[in-house]
Amino acid sequence: MTGDRVLAAHDLLAFYAEAGVDTCVGEMPIDRLARRDDVAPPSVATPAGARRSSAPMSAPQAAAAVATSPPSPETAVMAARAAARSAGTLDELRAILEGFDGCPLKTMASRLVFADGDPRARVMFVGEAPGREEDLAGLPFVGRSGKLLDRIMAAIGLDRGGVYIANIVPWRPPGNRTPTPQESQICLPFVRRQIELVDPDILVCLGGPATQTLLGLADGIMKTRGRWFDFDTGRRAIRATATLHPAYLLRSPIAKRLVWRDFLAIRAALTG
Ligand code: URA
Repeated sequence: MTGDRVLAAHDLLAFYAEAGVDTCVGEMPIDRLARRDDVAPPSVATPAGARRSSAPMSAPQAAAAVATSPPSPETAVMAARAAARSAGTLDELRAILEGFDGCPLKTMASRLVFADGDPRARVMFVGEAPGREEDLAGLPFVGRSGKLLDRIMAAIGLDRGGVYIANIVPWRPPGNRTPTPQESQICLPFVRRQIELVDPDILVCLGGPATQTLLGLADGIMKTRGRWFDFDTGRRAIRATATLHPAYLLRSPIAKRLVWRDFLAIRAALTG
């Protein structure tokens, strides 16, 4: 390559990095705007073993449904439900997730980010999705926002070893983008099962996407934060609340006072 082309390539990569693109998913560029008369319409064929009815699948059927890629989002959600239901322990759930191919994020992430902390904890935090540091470490909330979460927890006498931390989506979305609603729905049965198995006294949703996905609420986080809800596991109702995501606090430190209020309420709920 000539010097000019090296510089141009360097500038282009710098532009991509700044725009948050940091994952290479193919070596050849694809012109998605070009007319493709030769391409067949998207297949609606159901992968082997998968069913299009709403009837529940068994775990082996679920595994078969996602064995061919990519399954439709509906098939992936049904497969996720059956697979998550079949987990009797957190270790089983982690192993099932390791083998689950229904979420496209898995193909772009370095590894599964399952959880951190004590599975017998009274408080469980659920964030949105792993970022770059979490993807490298295989643990949730270890980057800048995680360090801030540690400090906020410490302010009410909690620490990472005494709580349980997970995310809605256990694979890093490329460029740290917000998971799509489809990706979140595919992963939701797993985090729901994780909550059932941990069975905390208090569930804390971190940020809008986690709150909306877990609690099924349409309102934004400024309306839902600081309020209490019931998270129904099917066996019992867990007290759930929502607060601002630590990454938001890094951008808007003024909002820390709201989070301080939320954490005082969490402490009161734990001691009350
Ligand atoms: N943000 C999240 O929502 N989760 C993490 O694990 C890290 C950052």
